[in-house]
Amino acid sequence: MKLLITGACGHIGSYITENIHLIKKIKEVILIDNFNTQRYHSIFNLKKGVKFTFLKLDLSTQPLNKIKKVNYVIHCASLTNAEGSFKIKKEMFKNNLNCMKNIINYCKKNKSKLIHISSTSVYGKQANIVNEDDNHLLKPQSPYAEIKLIEEKLLINSKNKIIYNTFRFGTIAGVSKGIRFHTAINKFCLDVALNKSVKIYKTAFNQYRPYLSLKDAFKVFKFCIEKEFFKNEIFNVLSGNYTVQQIINMIKKYKKNIRIKFVSNKIMNQLSYKVDDFKLRKEGIALKSSISKDIQETLGLFNNINNK
Ligand SMILES: NC(=O)c1ccc[n+]([C@@H]2O[C@H](COP(=O)([O-])OP(=O)(O)OC[C@H]3O[C@@H](n4cnc5c(N)ncnc54)[C@H](O)[C@@H]3O)[C@@H](O)[C@H]2O)c1
Repeated sequence: MKLLITGACGHIGSYITENIHLIKKIKEVILIDNFNTQRYHSIFNLKKGVKFTFLKLDLSTQPLNKIKKVNYVIHCASLTNAEGSFKIKKEMFKNNLNCMKNIINYCKKNKSKLIHISSTSVYGKQANIVNEDDNHLLKPQSPYAEIKLIEEKLLINSKNKIIYNTFRFGTIAGVSKGIRFHTAINKFCLDVALNKSVKIYKTAFNQYRPYLSLKDAFKVFKFCIEKEFFKNEIFNVLSGNYTVQQIINMIKKYKKNIRIKFVSNKIMNQLSYKVDDFKLRKEGIALKSSISKDIQETLGLFNNINNK
């Protein structure tokens, strides 16, 4: 079976690429990235046993008609900095939506099954717990999250012509070859490792947010492909809901002296919510990777840095 991974050099894409041999039925993988973020190292020294092809192309402008039919597509190509998305709103809309439309057309034409990654940041209202049916709680707080909701709708509108799942991922934690440090946990780990003060949004300290270990994210991809689990539906995906304070306490287990600086920011004025993943769990998939372990491994990348 053949798989296409877009955004293969990114944080999630590189983790899938590195571990794809664990999904035995995948024999051939096409990797696409435009190298915009210069993460060439993501494709260094790939394991033998799977046939990889790498295509440097811009998915937002270049058609995919030269790519022969693949069985599955995992679509990761996106501009992904939610906080930075206010400044590059136009560019992000154009890039991410054109990539999405290109992939939808490819999947329709080739009958390829699509895994689409959305984000739990599409929720943005105060709530004890939110699930996939709570449409009244959808309130994107950034251009990035607005785009995710539009992508979801593009798929819903095509649902008779395409086979897919949309997964609303919590914020990713964990180490990959293409790791980035712009999201909460990784950014905190980087600051702590470099002995800088950790900047925390005042309003967010005691608010719950969903987090997802890369290991659990991969488990979901594996589950879909191995079990042919494609429902044309939306699923929340997370390893756990935690407050920033709880995350900081996890970091403190590995690094005692942490300095915290409280700051304000417009993206974090959304209120507290926990995300419910019962819809996915009842399909028989248990996500229970430890975020604390991910933190330990991320801090471990900087083991020999002794900043004072
Ligand atoms: N990392 C998270 O915390 C998180 C959480 C929820 C959802 N997601 C979603 O998961 C997906 C993957 O995220 P990630 O963290 O791996 O992002 P990332 O920024 O690390 O990787 C994205 C990759 O896409 C590539 N890319 C961007 N535009 C492209 C284009 N036009 N053509 C070809 N390649 C292009 C980039 O070069 C990059 O390598 C994204 O859709 C993201 O929104 C991520």
